[in-house]
This record gives sequence, structure tokens and C-alpha cells, in this order.
Amino acid sequence: MATEAKLLTEETVPAYLSSRHSKLNLFPENATLTATAIEGGNVNYAFLVRCSSSSRTCFVKQAPEFVAIFGPGGYPLTSARMRVEIDVFDEWKAILGEDLAAKYLPTIHLFDETNMAFVMEFFEGFELLDRVLVESGTCWEEVSRGLGDFMGRTHAATHSSLVPPPRTAYLTEHFENRAMRDVQLEFVFTKAYAESTDEQREGLDMSPEFLAEVELLKTQYDGRGDPLNLVLSHGDLHPGSVMVDETGSVKIIDPEFAVYASPGLDLGSMLSGYVLAAIHQAYAGKPQAVASICEGARAVWEAYEVAAKEGGVEEKYVSRAEIETVGFTVAEVCRTALGHAGGRKWLQFEDPDTKKAACKAAMRVVNACMIKRHEGGMQLLLDQMKACSEL
Ligand SMILES: Nc1ncnc2c1ncn2[C@@H]1O[C@H](COP(=O)(O)OP(=O)(O)OP(=O)(O)O)[C@@H](O)[C@H]1O
Ligand SMILES: [Mg+2]
Repeated sequence: MATEAKLLTEETVPAYLSSRHSKLNLFPENATLTATAIEGGNVNYAFLVRCSSSSRTCFVKQAPEFVAIFGPGGYPLTSARMRVEIDVFDEWKAILGEDLAAKYLPTIHLFDETNMAFVMEFFEGFELLDRVLVESGTCWEEVSRGLGDFMGRTHAATHSSLVPPPRTAYLTEHFENRAMRDVQLEFVFTKAYAESTDEQREGLDMSPEFLAEVELLKTQYDGRGDPLNLVLSHGDLHPGSVMVDETGSVKIIDPEFAVYASPGLDLGSMLSGYVLAAIHQAYAGKPQAVASICEGARAVWEAYEVAAKEGGVEEKYVSRAEIETVGFTVAEVCRTALGHAGGRKWLQFEDPDTKKAACKAAMRVVNACMIKRHEGGMQLLLDQMKACSEL
């Protein structure tokens, strides 16, 4: 973000938009706009803007040179992350075409690189998928199929076994996203294992073989795995980066961690949310929700397989994606059960005994799948997911 950039606030967003009125072409001239800060995000500033006369809305997001929640003196982080977010949305739009882009992605009205801010469509009536999975336990099949389809199509169109080498080189370099990648390498793949206490590790068999699997996933996340098995990835596609509504519509948001990496990364982030939600619902005493979430996980994978194969990905790479997916899934489940996933919703119970039992169930899935995934694949994960939910 350039030095003259101003941090947006509820007070300044209306004037910021009004002065860009002609570029935006969203609201009537001289419209009265009201901005409300959206709580929940940690990294950036986000606002909902409403126009009193036209009832139109938009979403404004700004990336400061630091992690928003810690303030300017806290954790520095390059605002270039917003350029990555815009560029990956553009790549996906070109891949999907107009209709599917409108189905899965927000419309971006304006990107202002000077202030590292963008204005996009506000998804009225949508909720974050993580909330839906935990709070209501509803898992619409259409949402799960949409997620698998989105990942399968975008992965196939950028798969390094299929695209020309100069394109692979471009995607590797352009989506290096080093600063953001380093954050994930540290917080997702390193700290949780190195810094957890014996109490947090209870139930986890952290053998050398297990740690070797974590190292392998770390390498694949960093794009240093098989050079013919890389895809343009959202990079943080857990259910908190997905918005859904009751009609089964599904929208992808917040790809600021986008990287060119192994296909299992995005699938694993997503399915980790499903596994944790299933365990959560089991310990909340909602077996029907567990069953529908387990079916949802299967639907994500099945839709992915179909779309990836239709997009030309060879069987052997789809099989590799399957093994990786299980690995990335249980790595994220493990990090969460170790208590290193920040403010995510999963496994949070007021009763400490219930919380402990749920974390143990999560560790059982991790132990059962991390090494055996190489033979058992997705079916092993789905079986374990169901089993750990049958208390
Ligand atoms: N287009 C949209 N329409 C409606 N709400 C949105 C939209 N995009 C994001 N949101 C809401 O705003 C929140 C913050 O947005 P986003 O996740 O992009 O910001 P962030 O600061 O990068 O968050 P995080 O800390 O999770 O990385 C989201 O969790 C979601 O609730
Ligand atoms: Mg974010």
C-alpha cells in the first residue's frame, strides 16, 4: 500500500465511494451511503455499504501493511496480498467463463491499488459455511457438489501436467505469495507440532513416521513436491472462505493466500472443516447432522473427481490428489485439535469434558489416516469420519 494511502473507517468509506462514483457506477450520484464494519475477519478491514435511496449494497475490503486485528504496531504483513486476491479472481473468471464465474465468484466493481482496497458485490442473505456446518449442522448437497466442481475445474485448467511450461513458470512465479506462504508454513505446518504441550498432544501418536508425513505435506504446500502436480490454489479454502445461502448457492471469498501448489491443499482445507464439523455435531448430540456432513464430504470429492477428469487430468494425478487431500485434511484437523487454529469454530464446547472427548475423537481420525492414507485414500477418511461420530 502506498504511503499516501489512508486507512478506511466507517466514517470515511461513504466519501471514499462517492468520490469514485463515476468509476463505480453503483449508486445514484449524491446518494447517502452508510458503512458498517464487518466483524469476524482478522487480517483486513471489511465494510458493508448501503445506499438509503436505492437499497443497493456493496462490500469494501482494505488490506493494511499489517494484520488488522493487531493494529499498526502488531504483526506486519504486506498489503500486496490484495493484488494476489484480485489476480486469482481474474484467473478463475477467465477459466470458468461468464456463467460459472457468476455462479461461484463475487463481481468486483473496483480495485484501487494505491489504497489496496476493493469494492465488490455484497452477498445479501449469505452466511459463512463454517457457521452453517457448526450452528445448524445443515449440509446442502448442492453446496458440496459446487465446491468440488469449482476446485476440479480450476485445478484442471491450471494443472502443471496439462498447461504449457511457460504458463506453469508464470503461475509459479506470480503466485509465489512468499510472505503469506511463510505465515502458513509457520502457523499451519510447524508451530502446532513444535510448540504444543504434552496435554494438547494427548491422543496423538507423533512418531517419526507421522512427522515425516507432515514434512511431506509442508513440501507439497510450498510447491516443492512433484513439478507435474501443481495447481492454482485458493490457499486457505476452509469453510470460513465460503459463503452459502438456503438455495444452495455457493460463493468463494478471500483468496489472499493463493499459491501454485499441490491439488490436495484446497481439498484438504475444505474437508478438514467437514471432518471437524462432523465430530462437533456428534458431540453436540446431532446424529442427523453428522450423517449429512459425511455425505457432504463424499459429494465434494466425487464432484471434484468428475470435474478434474472432465478437465483432462489423468487418473494417476487424480489418485495422487486423493492421497494428498486426506493428508492435508488430517493435518488441519490435527492443528485444530492441538489448539493452534486460532479462533475457528470447531471443537469449541463450554463443558471441558466434552471438549476433551471431541479433541480425542479428532486425534483418532488423525492417527488412523495420516500414514495409512497412502493405501486407504478417501474411503479411509470417510469411514473414519463416520466411525468417530458413532460415539
Ligand atoms: N462479498 C461479500 N459479501 C458479503 N460478506 C462478505 C463478502 N466477502 C466477505 N464477507 C464477510 O466479511 C468477512 C471478512 O471478509 P474476508 O474473509 O475477505 O476478510 P479477511 O480480513 O481476509 O478475513 P480473515 O481474517 O478470515 O482472513 C467474511 O468472513 C464474511 O463474513
Ligand atoms: Mg483473509
